[in-house]
Amino acid sequence: MEAGGPSRTALAVAGLRAAHQIMDAPVIFADPVALPILGPGAEARIRADEARLRSPTVRFLRASVVARSRFAEDTLATAVADGVRQYVVLGAGLDTFAYRNPHPDLRVFEVDHPATQAWKRDTLAAAGILPPPSVAYAGVDFEHDTVAEGLARAGFDWNRPAFVAWLGVAIYLTRDAILDTLRAIAALPAGSGIVFDYSLPPDTLSEGQRAAFQAMADRAATEGEPWRSFFTPEAIATDLSAVGFGTVTDIGAAELNPRYFAGRADGLGLGGISRLAHAAVTGPSPIAPGL
Ligand SMILES: C[S@@+](CC[C@H](N)C(=O)[O-])C[C@H]1O[C@@H](n2cnc3c(N)ncnc32)[C@H](O)[C@@H]1O
Repeated sequence: MEAGGPSRTALAVAGLRAAHQIMDAPVIFADPVALPILGPGAEARIRADEARLRSPTVRFLRASVVARSRFAEDTLATAVADGVRQYVVLGAGLDTFAYRNPHPDLRVFEVDHPATQAWKRDTLAAAGILPPPSVAYAGVDFEHDTVAEGLARAGFDWNRPAFVAWLGVAIYLTRDAILDTLRAIAALPAGSGIVFDYSLPPDTLSEGQRAAFQAMADRAATEGEPWRSFFTPEAIATDLSAVGFGTVTDIGAAELNPRYFAGRADGLGLGGISRLAHAAVTGPSPIAPGL
């Protein structure tokens, strides 16, 4: 987000979710809005790009993009069954959940950099996708604004529990911005939780993983969105506990590949560069949300 315009990586990962709908079988993350949101001709553009989309690095990335959305929405469904009625999509990009929300009483809050959010709303309008009354928008730059103020302005109720997804975003932020946002979420009432992904530090990766990491990091940097923050599972668990979360479940390729990609003929699966953390608020937080 250095250039000041909308996120180009948001468009790239939306393209991967759309490609998953038409190139991969079986689909592990079914998203009927993934293609429509990209406008007319999206399928033809994906078909024309198939050689790149079938390369090993892009397949690893596509698997991690669809697995993180699947995991987040599965975890959201459990939270809704437990009574949560607010869903926050931090750094929403072209995430389509709000436009296919199956939960009747669930309010969805899309939070994103104002430039990306304005572009998304134009993109939705151009694709003829009408935002339902259940979605609200909050423009927030995680580096300069507080998520607490942005969400409050959009009508979010900080006194009620919420489930939060923060997918494909932490890697682009400074450590301070990540911890400030996590601290705000940890101040929500018990029953709240967050799912987010993070990348492992390159020096902890194998040679093959490091090459894929470098190819993806180089591409993001040329899009004006350099990768900034990396964590080990131990370090993120320490940080999550320090900002006030009660429990943390941390999973990677070893758990996600058998869960979502077992027995496939096409071999699609995660490469082990990124991991998912699910942190839950289990009791009253000692930390105020910073309003
Ligand atoms: C790779 S996209 C992921 C989008 C979406 N979560 C998904 O999975 O499709 C990165 C997202 O992070 C957002 N982002 C990056 N830096 C940000 C910042 N400083 N403040 C707010 N949003 C930011 C971008 O606007 C973009 O929507």
